[in-house]
Amino acid sequence: MSTTPFGRICIATLIASPAVVHALNTWPNPFLDELDSQLYDRQGYNGRNLPVGMLFGQDCSSFLFGPNAGRANAADWLRTAYHDMATHNTMDGTGGLDASIRFQAEQERPEAPFQNAGDGFQNTFAFIAGLSNRYFSLADNIALAAVTAVELCGGPKIPFRGGRVDAIEPNTPGVPEPQQSLEEHVSSFSRQGFTQEEMIGLIACGHTFGGVQHVAFPDIVPPSDDPQNTSGNSRFDTTFTHFDNRIDNNVTMSKFANPDVFRSTCANLLARMIDTVPGGVALTNVLEPIKFKPVAVSLVWVGGGNIKLRGEVRVWNSAPSEITMKWKARDGSSSPSFSAPLVQNTDHTTDPLIPDSPTITNRWYEFPDVLHNSTQSVSEFWFEVKNDDGSNKVENLGGVGYHLQDVVMITNNTCVGIDDGSLVLTVEAAIRADLGQPSRVYVKADETDQTGRPNLKIVDITAPLNRPTIAGYTLWGATFGLNATGAFYTVAVDIDGQTYETNWSAGSLDLNPVLLNSC
Ligand code: HEM
Ligand SMILES: *[C@@H]1O[C@H](CO)[C@@H](O)[C@H](O)[C@H]1NC(C)=O
Ligand SMILES: *[C@@H]1O[C@H](CO)[C@@H](O)[C@H](O)[C@H]1NC(C)=O
Ligand SMILES: *[C@@H]1O[C@H](CO)[C@@H](O)[C@H](O)[C@H]1NC(C)=O
Ligand SMILES: *[C@@H]1O[C@H](CO)[C@@H](O)[C@H](O)[C@H]1NC(C)=O
Ligand SMILES: *[C@@H]1O[C@H](CO)[C@@H](O)[C@H](O)[C@H]1NC(C)=O
Ligand SMILES: *[C@@H]1O[C@H](CO)[C@@H](O)[C@H](O)[C@H]1NC(C)=O
Repeated sequence: MSTTPFGRICIATLIASPAVVHALNTWPNPFLDELDSQLYDRQGYNGRNLPVGMLFGQDCSSFLFGPNAGRANAADWLRTAYHDMATHNTMDGTGGLDASIRFQAEQERPEAPFQNAGDGFQNTFAFIAGLSNRYFSLADNIALAAVTAVELCGGPKIPFRGGRVDAIEPNTPGVPEPQQSLEEHVSSFSRQGFTQEEMIGLIACGHTFGGVQHVAFPDIVPPSDDPQNTSGNSRFDTTFTHFDNRIDNNVTMSKFANPDVFRSTCANLLARMIDTVPGGVALTNVLEPIKFKPVAVSLVWVGGGNIKLRGEVRVWNSAPSEITMKWKARDGSSSPSFSAPLVQNTDHTTDPLIPDSPTITNRWYEFPDVLHNSTQSVSEFWFEVKNDDGSNKVENLGGVGYHLQDVVMITNNTCVGIDDGSLVLTVEAAIRADLGQPSRVYVKADETDQTGRPNLKIVDITAPLNRPTIAGYTLWGATFGLNATGAFYTVAVDIDGQTYETNWSAGSLDLNPVLLNSC
């Protein structure tokens, strides 16, 4: 890449001091739970399966979009994150990693005819769009794809935060172009928030992957006769699918000759790159795996005044000999009989694919199959965990306990079907009668808006005409079509100025078979 003016500059060592989330005493927090699943349920049960798009065999050479010698999805994902972020302006807080690169206008800037050239951005969106949902923006997804590409292709672990917000329109142009001068590049990176040293470092960290395509840059790369080489991709280095400090044409710098310095500097610079977001966007702390994680928890009305408490626990890299669930009734009372063991589902295993810790295995335990009397109900639960070494631990969020609302729950008649290629949802909700008449009952379902970002579709449920009360609950129901991504659903009930909600998940997050009858 002789046209890109890489200098030979020493990289200042950056000091990492990311804040880390240690304890989460607020539950439920579906947003943090989903970030955790996206980052750590990489493969296997409940897997988000992002790595499927880049790992072929166990190297990083997957290219899912046709024969194309030398192209790799992993490289496209990293480049997409940089180009999306490169519109940031530190002076006015505009631009940054906000998925604005998905707009055609940004991919085909008239001001800069080829800087965003190539189909790498569309390819990236084609892969990740279906993995976003109300809790996981496209922008978080772009950041995660970059992190995953680097981490699973031999690079360092990059601290990951969530909470990016998707732009609703293109940003002001700002991506550096290869034919620009060094001065223009320095001033462009300075606007983005990076010094000249950091610029050199970031480009080196990025260009350990991938290459330059003839189709996008005919002046830089000559055409190829090889029919497999349809885009004529000329690789930046001989290890184009591996994150390493080998960057040919001598663009590497003396300090980067030390692989440890290269890795730690890249981890810092790439973290800053993905955390460069528009002003006003607040990111979470750096994510750490939730070690004992109740997943897909919900009370379900199963008829005849009976309730089931559905859910599972994901236990991070340990093998307890026994987990017992305990609970309290709606009125706060407890009894020795309010106790039942969890059963490990040995068909369920999830591999977080952490290169430094390849032996981490996660086990899943299903909530007990107990019928709860709807008059007593359940207001709170917690767990007693016994380990093989004889040690015991109570999992109750540091004494707070896992609290549930039982004003609204779905029934096990709730189901999803397909009619003429589109999704049809049948919802039946059981709503507590003793709090009075709801002013509104409605469903919130994930869908995609006209600009391609996750959005909520809200559909009201009209009150049933004849409303018998069964064991303290009234059933409300509706069936309707959805242009939904099918990830998460909510039934919300407004009563007396208060809103009560129950959530469940579907599709690829198929955790609760009893809730997901097809209809
Ligand atoms: C002055 C700044 C930069 C310039 C002028 C530049 C230029 C280029 C060019 C011309 C290509 C070839 C694209 C194609 O043919 O499709 C490319 C590819 C790439 N760039 Fe950059 N780049 C810059 C900074 C960065 C940064 C900061 C990163 C990430 C940290 C990055 C990551 C990549 C990757 C991963 C590819 C390979 C894409 C693929 O093989 O599909 N670039 N860059
Ligand atoms: C593909 O074609 C380009 C342009 O001719 C060439 O530089 C590159 O080496 C080729 N890549 C492979 C893997 O053959
Ligand atoms: C690249 O730089 C190194 C270190 O300065 C030098 O020893 C080597 O000869 C250079 N290689 C090329 C191809 O210029
Ligand atoms: C709902 O659950 C009850 C109790 O387990 C069961 O008898 C009934 O068949 C279930 N209904 C559906 C539609 O799955
Ligand atoms: C449910 O609990 C209530 C109150 O404890 C009791 O009156 C009722 O008989 C119970 N119903 C069943 C089906 O066990
Ligand atoms: C889905 O979107 C299409 C096109 O926007 C529209 O014609 C159709 O009515 C929508 N269907 C539902 C169920 O909202
Ligand atoms: C349901 O989701 C909403 C946000 O989407 C959240 O505020 C609420 O805590 C969730 N409730 C449960 C029981 O998961």
